[in-house]
Amino acid sequence: MASVLVQPCPDPKFGDYQANALMGLAKVRKMNPRQLAAEVLAKLDVGDCCQKIEIAGAGFLNFHLSATAIARTLGSAAAGEHLFFEKTKEPKTVVIDFSSPNVAKPMHVGHIRSTVLGDALSRVARLLGHRVITDNHLGDWGTQFGMLLVGWKTILDSKRIQFDPLGEMERIYKEISRRCDPDKPGFDQPTLDSARGELVKLQAGDPQNLGIWTEMIRLSQAQFEAIYGRLGVRFDHTLGESFYNSRLASVVSQLMTAGVATETRGAKAVLSDESLPPKEDPFLVQKEGEWVPNPFIIQKQDGGFNYATTDLATLAYRLETWQADEVIYVTDGRQQLHFRQLFAAFRRWHPEVRTKLAHVWFGSILGEDGKPFKTRSGETVRLSDLLDEAEERALRVVSEKSPDLPETERREISRVVGIGAVKYADLLPNRQSDYVFSWDKLLALNGNTAPYLQYAYARICSIFRKGGLNASEQRASNSELRITEPQEIALAKKLFNFGLVLDAVVQENRPNFLCNYLYELAGQFTSFYENCPVLKSEPDVRESRLSLCRLTGKVMHQGLTLLGIETLEQM
Ligand code: ARG
Repeated sequence: MASVLVQPCPDPKFGDYQANALMGLAKVRKMNPRQLAAEVLAKLDVGDCCQKIEIAGAGFLNFHLSATAIARTLGSAAAGEHLFFEKTKEPKTVVIDFSSPNVAKPMHVGHIRSTVLGDALSRVARLLGHRVITDNHLGDWGTQFGMLLVGWKTILDSKRIQFDPLGEMERIYKEISRRCDPDKPGFDQPTLDSARGELVKLQAGDPQNLGIWTEMIRLSQAQFEAIYGRLGVRFDHTLGESFYNSRLASVVSQLMTAGVATETRGAKAVLSDESLPPKEDPFLVQKEGEWVPNPFIIQKQDGGFNYATTDLATLAYRLETWQADEVIYVTDGRQQLHFRQLFAAFRRWHPEVRTKLAHVWFGSILGEDGKPFKTRSGETVRLSDLLDEAEERALRVVSEKSPDLPETERREISRVVGIGAVKYADLLPNRQSDYVFSWDKLLALNGNTAPYLQYAYARICSIFRKGGLNASEQRASNSELRITEPQEIALAKKLFNFGLVLDAVVQENRPNFLCNYLYELAGQFTSFYENCPVLKSEPDVRESRLSLCRLTGKVMHQGLTLLGIETLEQM
């Protein structure tokens, strides 16, 4: 027995759904694909779902839905029995590691992309019935604290740390790290020595240094929480890097004992085991035409542990504690090598583990000049400033469109629109490509933007307001809808694909599929609404059309919620 996937037809001219995998199956079975398709067709029983099924091209099967099936599926959705998707039959435990900003540094636009993508992926997987565990892997440990401690003790502005803690911590970090960099003009050996000394003291549990470190975390956390509050993002756990400190020594000794890590130039590292061709081996790198070691260092010469060690300990902890079937890491593309090495090293350490490991990486955000997105003075853009600006710009648009609304209402609309627009701009592009950040584009009311979708949703709500009707009313479960016009049929068929899109989002970790789907759905709704009068039509037609409106509104609302985007009934 083999099962063959049926997908929406790329071109509706050919049908509604298509099975294109029979060709591959025919090849395996050394059969003529059209003949195999004919045999499958002869045995196929789809009940009354299809009006016809055709063999096409080299051996495709194209399915055309029957009017009965369309009316029945809409009817059951209108009765509240489903919303065009099914929960998974194989629920998995999925750990999603996202956002993960670094303490004492302001969150920047790269972290928003991780936050927004990770949050959307968690929401979709959860809706489909998976057990999702979100974990914010805060960067709260590491060599930067040596420098931060020196800065805190010598150059801290005690006023500024009160009202702009992240700005002040960033300033002292930048200043001291400049003095610690042998390649920079201001290099100062004594500062470098004291940074090392402070770090060693911190790691040894010096009470004063631990106290300052705790304070730095507290101050940073408060700012992060404020941002997460604005974004509507919550985590099940925030286990920072420091949480794993006590496990690092044991991770290194286990890897040494297992022969996975070896001593190399005084450090301990995972090196190539030559099981892969050099091109695919993450522990090799090509230099001047030669393949040379690219070690994954887990303990430095001075005995210190690395990002790599922490990530190995973290992964082991997640599997032990949560029995994860899948662990997903959402970070920018510059960490690809780190994760390839991490996954390969972990597999050698625990060959028995079947857990799926995925690095869901994304490209950079560029300014309109095509260079990395920065402020005018060349600084990285702070997330809080970005969100403020989004709301301000949205307020200008809203005030222009609806000057008569009271200010509090205009502000609430701008918040929903501004934050939604920034999130959508992060979600819509294929995540692996860089994208150009443009305020005009992301706030446009026309085009594939959050405001356009939010507006489309509000317009559906307004139909019910105008008719003095309840938007969430349900029909009796046995009633079928009367669907006859081509635009009604097209809209219905678009609704049917919601579940397939959600499955694809989870399969490929790509929320942009959902963005594009909602955009197309909004377009399909517009052409329905322009061609098929709703409130003014005959009673039974009117009922069916109102149901179509209701269901479209529900799917829009559900879809935007999954993207972490709020909606308004009136805009
Ligand atoms: N803190 C890191 C950064 O800002 C991201 C951490 C990602 N998660 C992990 N388990 N390595 O780049």
